[in-house]
Amino acid sequence: MKINYIALNVLSTFALLCSAQSVRGDYVKENTLYDQSGHGRNNIYDYIVVGSGSAGAVVVNRLSEDPGVKILLLESGGPPISHSEKPVLASAQLLTRQNWNYFMERQANFCLGLTDELMEWPRGRVLGGTTVINFMIHIRGNREDYNRWARMGNPGWSYEEVLPYFRKSEDSTIKIQDSEYRNQGGLLSVSDVPYRTESVNAFVKGCQEAGYPYVDYNGKNQLGVSYVQANLRVGRRCSAEKAFIRPSRNRPNLQIRLNSHVTKVLIDPNTKRAYGVEYLHRKRKYVVNASLEVILSAGAFHSPQILMLSGIGPRNHLAELQIPLIKDHPVGRKLYDHLTFLGLIFTVTKPIVGNLIETFSLASITDFFLFGQGPITSIGGVEALAYFQTNVTTYPEGLPDMELIFIGGGLHTDYGLFFKNQFRISDKVYDALWTPLQNRYAFSIFPMGLHPKSYGYIKLRSRNPLDPPLLYGNFFTDPENVDMKTFMAAIREAQRITKSPAFQKYGTEQVKTPVPGCENYAFDSDPYWECAMRHITVTLHHQIHTCKMGPVTDPEAVVDAKLRVHGIERLRVIDTSVIPTTVSAHVSAVGYMIGEKGADLIKADYRNLLRENER
Ligand SMILES: Cc1cc2nc3c(=O)[nH]c(=O)nc-3n(C[C@H](O)[C@H](O)[C@H](O)COP(=O)(O)OP(=O)(O)OC[C@H]3O[C@@H](n4cnc5c(N)ncnc54)[C@H](O)[C@@H]3O)c2cc1C
Ligand SMILES: *[C@@H]1O[C@H](CO)[C@@H](O)[C@H](O)[C@H]1NC(C)=O
Ligand SMILES: *[C@@H]1O[C@H](CO)[C@@H](O)[C@H](O)[C@H]1NC(C)=O
Repeated sequence: MKINYIALNVLSTFALLCSAQSVRGDYVKENTLYDQSGHGRNNIYDYIVVGSGSAGAVVVNRLSEDPGVKILLLESGGPPISHSEKPVLASAQLLTRQNWNYFMERQANFCLGLTDELMEWPRGRVLGGTTVINFMIHIRGNREDYNRWARMGNPGWSYEEVLPYFRKSEDSTIKIQDSEYRNQGGLLSVSDVPYRTESVNAFVKGCQEAGYPYVDYNGKNQLGVSYVQANLRVGRRCSAEKAFIRPSRNRPNLQIRLNSHVTKVLIDPNTKRAYGVEYLHRKRKYVVNASLEVILSAGAFHSPQILMLSGIGPRNHLAELQIPLIKDHPVGRKLYDHLTFLGLIFTVTKPIVGNLIETFSLASITDFFLFGQGPITSIGGVEALAYFQTNVTTYPEGLPDMELIFIGGGLHTDYGLFFKNQFRISDKVYDALWTPLQNRYAFSIFPMGLHPKSYGYIKLRSRNPLDPPLLYGNFFTDPENVDMKTFMAAIREAQRITKSPAFQKYGTEQVKTPVPGCENYAFDSDPYWECAMRHITVTLHHQIHTCKMGPVTDPEAVVDAKLRVHGIERLRVIDTSVIPTTVSAHVSAVGYMIGEKGADLIKADYRNLLRENER
């Protein structure tokens, strides 16, 4: 009864939000902001960019700055839906057509508390890519992350060399920032979340009482605690579409074709030179040529998929599927991701957390539409981040191996409407853990392992380019069990922080309901937590490494430090799939940086080409 009433309320609120939004007129109206004709016309371009996510959107914007080159963007999805602008509805975006809806192949002894024991691996299929459905957290990562990239044989990628690109993108209005690391006036908005619950203040204070410095984690020192920094503009989502595509869309040298699914890169088998792509639009096949380069920015699942469909991949795998081999490469052989454990929940005795009724009250809606303020600007409940090193880390000082994500609420807050579905929590587990919290005040701490040792891989399911690839996670399978131990240490750290005076003031207590399936272990023992983690640990969506960047001597490398596919001319991969090792970050900001740097690499090569032609 209660849930239905709330569902109804929320739905009617959606309708209201929708109409109010169109009155303001700043949302993407399908087929008007983006012209969708032009297929089959003007079939020669200088550059073809495939995909418009964090990286692709930047590449398209920067390349089309030069009116002398012609660019075609091919994007499999359509324009974003207007609800994607409302930050609090982040989770809901995953239930729309903007998600590819992929699943990880079932893994033994993992995801035991999920529906059908299946974990979803969502990605954005929409103009703006995954930035239209993500949680908008903006974090660049650690100095040492990029110095490692450079030490792995990738000249140009040290922290000092990538920092200018992080800065170039951003327009930061963060209150407490290390100004020499930040920038104002870039295209991508980075701001504080206008709305904060009282509980996040307790977290930030509690961490400080536990010894954490208060930092700009995108500045000088990452280790410490801070309120979350987000890709928001006037309280609304600032996606790659809004930041980079929208301002360039009317340039006459840029063609944007939506609902255009690239199935293959065309490569001359003799010269090993890429010269165009094939794509599907409304079931029709089109061919387009690129006089200069083809750039894959299709993300960590699809860039490797397209390469393999085009004959670039592991020899045996391609032979199995009878795809003619153009170049033997370890495409998709290693896939790293970030996990989080959902079971650290704490109750408080005072109403200091977020709640649904308040979020969708008339006052809140007014606040959002008129001022870009209020609970609707909350980025899916994420309010603060803390970075630290566990006592089992193998990394040098200054490089965190764990992040704690503070949520001023939890899976109970939306009464099971979105979060439960996003993570596919089974009814049994949800009813045991979260339903009882619906009448209480509770917050969550999601620990995220930053540098997992375990890794999965990706393969083609078939030669059909419309088939989802086969995705394997292999989580918590590293032989020394470091990944599990790291999470265990994070649980202990979260418990320590919640014992701080700042939290105890509110009668903070850990929820001790056992996860169904783990009742046989003593609550709070290490074996209990391991069992719980095997039930309700899920992805936080940072797949990387499937087209690794590295020197030609690196047996795992697919692209070189200029992001060119080794051994193939005129073909680059520019997106998060090139990230050569785990990073201490959510990877959207990293994707933007790779887009900025990649575009500059292309421009430099183009200038050299012009110079040669003049001679
Ligand atoms: C639910 C969720 C929450 C997240 N939260 C955060 C967060 O808070 N902070 C953060 O930093 N990161 C977050 N991430 C991760 C981050 O958003 C992505 O890793 C990042 O945006 C990836 O950028 P990309 O450019 O590599 O690829 P994408 O952004 O995935 O872009 C790839 C694009 O290529 C298109 N494409 C794919 N195949 C084809 C084809 N064959 N033909 C044509 N087009 C194609 C896709 O439709 C897509 O638009 C989240 C991810 C998810 C799923
Ligand atoms: C595209 O390039 C290929 C190979 O060079 C050529 O055979 C084909 O005619 C070109 N198509 C167009 C439309 O120019
Ligand atoms: C790490 O800390 C936890 C508790 O805080 C302790 O149980 C464990 O033994 C420590 N591990 C190491 C390797 O010091």
